Amino acid sequence: MKHKQIIADVFSSVSRHYDTFLNLITFRRIKDWQRAMLKEVEGAKTLLDVGTGTGEVLLQADPQAMRVGIDLSLGMLKVARKKCPNCGFVLADAENVPFKTSSFDAITLSLVYRHLYNRDQFLKEARRVLKPEGRLAILDINKFWLTPLLVFLMKFPIKPLGLMLFGRDKWEFFIHSLENSLSEEELKRELESNGFKVIKTQKRLFGIVYIVSAQRI
Ligand SMILES: C[S@@+](CC[C@H](N)C(=O)[O-])C[C@H]1O[C@@H](n2cnc3c(N)ncnc32)[C@H](O)[C@@H]1O
Repeated sequence: MKHKQIIADVFSSVSRHYDTFLNLITFRRIKDWQRAMLKEVEGAKTLLDVGTGTGEVLLQADPQAMRVGIDLSLGMLKVARKKCPNCGFVLADAENVPFKTSSFDAITLSLVYRHLYNRDQFLKEARRVLKPEGRLAILDINKFWLTPLLVFLMKFPIKPLGLMLFGRDKWEFFIHSLENSLSEEELKRELESNGFKVIKTQKRLFGIVYIVSAQRI
């Protein structure tokens, strides 16, 4: 699939500097948010981190648990493997998870959900690999009032500059990720119509970031 190859290329190309960049743009709050997300799956003995990137979530998770991360980007996974040698990392797609039914107590996604192209398919897979009453915790960026304006700017006035700097494929991926961001309410509705019960919602950074936790029903 072409768009998945683009995602892999985009993230592999930034993998070496990704952690530094993410720390900077989140005002060094990212680890606190990830820890808050992990608190929602506390007690999980088997944890799957989807779109694990450089493995930061698993690094902070309970070391006694079986920790597994999947990602489309080999570059990101290479960094992750160095950081967390005791975790398992697999090059795989969130929409086609290569694990048996009922394998995990919990699944986490940090800054990944809005990148997914077929979220219903991912949620179907998440339900399948989660044990009954397993937990799903999602950390992501809220859709806010600036989002439609940014999308408009990227699609029209600054498009020529974007195409010149990044090329058509990457530029379209950036637009897709922004357009695909959900409000907290939209995410809750989506989870509830796909077999999950929302347990708790938390906000960070004046509501720009949310952490939603849900349970498989
Ligand atoms: C913004 S990064 C987040 C990485 C990490 N979770 C974090 O919080 O730093 C998004 C990651 O999701 C991965 N990704 C996007 N779509 C994916 C998919 N369909 N399946 C697996 N990984 C995916 C990307 O390759 C990338 O590493």
